[in-house]
Amino acid sequence: MIGKLNHVAIVVPDLGIGADQYRNTFGAEVSEPVDLPEHGVTTVFVNLPNTKIELLHPLGEDSPITKFLEKNPAGGIHHLCYEVVDIGLAADRLVARGMRVLGDGKPKIGAHGKPVLFVHPKDALGTLIELEQI
Ligand code: CO
Repeated sequence: MIGKLNHVAIVVPDLGIGADQYRNTFGAEVSEPVDLPEHGVTTVFVNLPNTKIELLHPLGEDSPITKFLEKNPAGGIHHLCYEVVDIGLAADRLVARGMRVLGDGKPKIGAHGKPVLFVHPKDALGTLIELEQI
């Protein structure tokens, strides 16, 4: 069901330092910061030949990643995103196998304008999983 690894998301305490590390130390192609107010994050995209890394930093008062950063002040891997062809079928399959889809269980439009859902990390080997319809 799942296809390519679309991105790995890393929450960082300082986007400038994170972007500088990926651009200048790791030598990757790195975007300027992009504010996504409807998702409560500012993102820097790191484009690798086979996938992307997304550096995330909280934006606004009730960002969904504020608590994560409090628990992981140095930053840390927040989620993995896998591509699926049909997000509705994917949601049905996960729920039928006892997995909890976060929120109301319905796919939402994600940070890239495509339908996404998140699987509860306690149901997925301790890892927050995002599925994105491509
Ligand atoms: Co993501």
